[in-house]
Amino acid sequence: MNTPHDWRRASLVLGGIGLLVLVSCGTFERTVLTVPEIPGAHFVGNQACYDCHTNCVRAFPSSPHARFHSDTAKLAGGTGCESCHGPGSKHVEVGGGLGKFIVNPGRDATACFNCHLDVQAQFRLPQHHPVAEGKMNCVQCHDPHGQDIFKPAGGLTLGWADQACAGCHREQTKPVVFAHEAMREGCTTCHDPHGSINAKLLRQPDPNLCLRCHAQVQGAGVPPGQVVIGAVNHSLFLPRGTCWTSGCHTAVHGSDFNHHLLY
Ligand code: HEC
Ligand code: HEC
Ligand code: HEC
Ligand code: HEC
Ligand code: HEC
Ligand code: HEC
Ligand code: HEC
Repeated sequence: MNTPHDWRRASLVLGGIGLLVLVSCGTFERTVLTVPEIPGAHFVGNQACYDCHTNCVRAFPSSPHARFHSDTAKLAGGTGCESCHGPGSKHVEVGGGLGKFIVNPGRDATACFNCHLDVQAQFRLPQHHPVAEGKMNCVQCHDPHGQDIFKPAGGLTLGWADQACAGCHREQTKPVVFAHEAMREGCTTCHDPHGSINAKLLRQPDPNLCLRCHAQVQGAGVPPGQVVIGAVNHSLFLPRGTCWTSGCHTAVHGSDFNHHLLY
């Protein structure tokens, strides 16, 4: 159980919430102290939700969150639902209902940030998806209850991430005559999905973004100081800016007209 992965998880939770940690003889227990608060309510457990929200309760054991909660921690009194939704006794007592003594993190990501502090920091970077602004939410890219926490629904033959992205970014995901093969590896090859210090959420601001896959040709036949990529000497082009600067590979996602993705 004390694999590096477990320790990574432990540090995620440690960083995320004020919690009680007992470390003894190489084992550790964790107790969450700050799940969302609902005044006067106490924890009732997942089964208390079953009669009214059967689908959520049935789907939940396949979610990464359920694995975490049941395996390694007695989170929120041993339950899963209430670590995001808050203690449920009052909601159950009044027979449930919208806005009735229960937290919905689909409207406000605070409940997620309790544990995912690192993600909260990513959404505060200069470039970010407008989650903090209330224009988007975690659930547009993550299914909180089922196994598909990365929402791989949809009809594209791209990676899972693209399908969540395609719902909003049609221009970059429509079929094209000359597709850039990098797209097969998913949008997150080049973009940080939450936030970035670089424009357009790019993982790197410069040609290194591309050179990772398009290695420079070295050695015989290449004059010193010259940059050759593919069969083309790029030494004159690179000082102009990035690979996708105007006049260069501006159709970086794919093109209907030009197989070098120039326009
Ligand atoms: C990881 C956090 C998390 C956990 C754990 C969680 N939920 Fe949710 N739940 C959410 C989010 C986020 C939404 C908003 C979904 C949306 O707007 O599409 C939601 C919405 C709901 C809703 C209302 C909308 C709907 O989909 O019907 C119900 C009911 C619900 N959850 C029940 C449960 C139950 C029951 C459990 C435990 C089996 C549970 N949730 C566990 C995050 C969570
Ligand atoms: C007696 C039936 C009942 C029980 C038990 C129950 N709920 Fe609900 N709950 C409802 C109803 C009805 C709604 C309103 C759903 C709707 O109109 O779509 C609701 C709504 C919700 C919502 C959405 C609230 C909102 O404002 O968006 C969440 C989240 C939720 N329930 C979570 C839970 C959790 C977690 C449990 C277990 C601790 C639970 N419920 C137990 C009946 C119940
Ligand atoms: C009680 C703490 C807690 C809360 C609240 C919580 N998470 Fe998590 N989440 C975790 C832990 C711990 C993991 C790591 C689980 C693992 O590695 O199996 C995780 C993993 C994830 C993952 C990655 C899953 C994977 O397979 O790598 C996503 C995405 C995620 N959470 C999104 C959310 C969203 C969205 C919310 C709010 C709706 C939320 N979390 C609320 C603790 C939490
Ligand atoms: C625009 C889509 C999108 C939105 C919105 C989004 N995520 Fe993510 N998230 C992703 C993708 C894609 C990944 C996988 C990242 C990768 O493979 O590099 C991911 C990964 C994660 C992970 C696991 C890896 C990590 O960075 O720790 C967590 C946890 C997570 N998201 C939580 C959240 C929470 C919490 C929210 C809401 C505050 C949220 N996400 C909103 C797309 C999104
Ligand atoms: C729910 C809709 C939605 C989803 C899903 C979504 N985005 Fe976005 N995206 C937006 C919005 C809104 C903006 C902000 C646009 C603005 O500020 O003009 C944005 C901005 C961006 C930008 C920066 C554009 C710019 O001009 O700076 C990139 C890159 C991007 N998204 C990539 C992605 C990727 C990759 C995914 C999948 C992991 C994704 N998006 C999923 C709605 C979405
Ligand atoms: C090979 C790297 C790469 C991949 C893969 C990639 N992008 Fe991009 N994307 C870029 C670059 C570079 C830019 C900046 C282009 C510019 O500034 O003209 C960009 C810009 C964008 C923008 C902003 C467009 C605008 O007009 O401002 C969006 C939105 C976007 N990408 C979404 C996506 C989505 C969605 C995917 C996956 C389907 C994806 N990207 C995959 C490199 C990539
Ligand atoms: C994940 C790996 C990957 C990344 C990152 C990547 N590419 Fe590609 N790219 C490929 C593959 C694979 C091909 C198809 C094989 C080839 O032509 O080298 C390709 C093809 C191309 C082509 C067409 C080749 C031609 O005939 O002219 C251009 C142009 C291109 N990429 C530009 C870029 C630019 C610009 C970036 C950075 C924004 C980039 N690539 C990032 C993998 C990648």
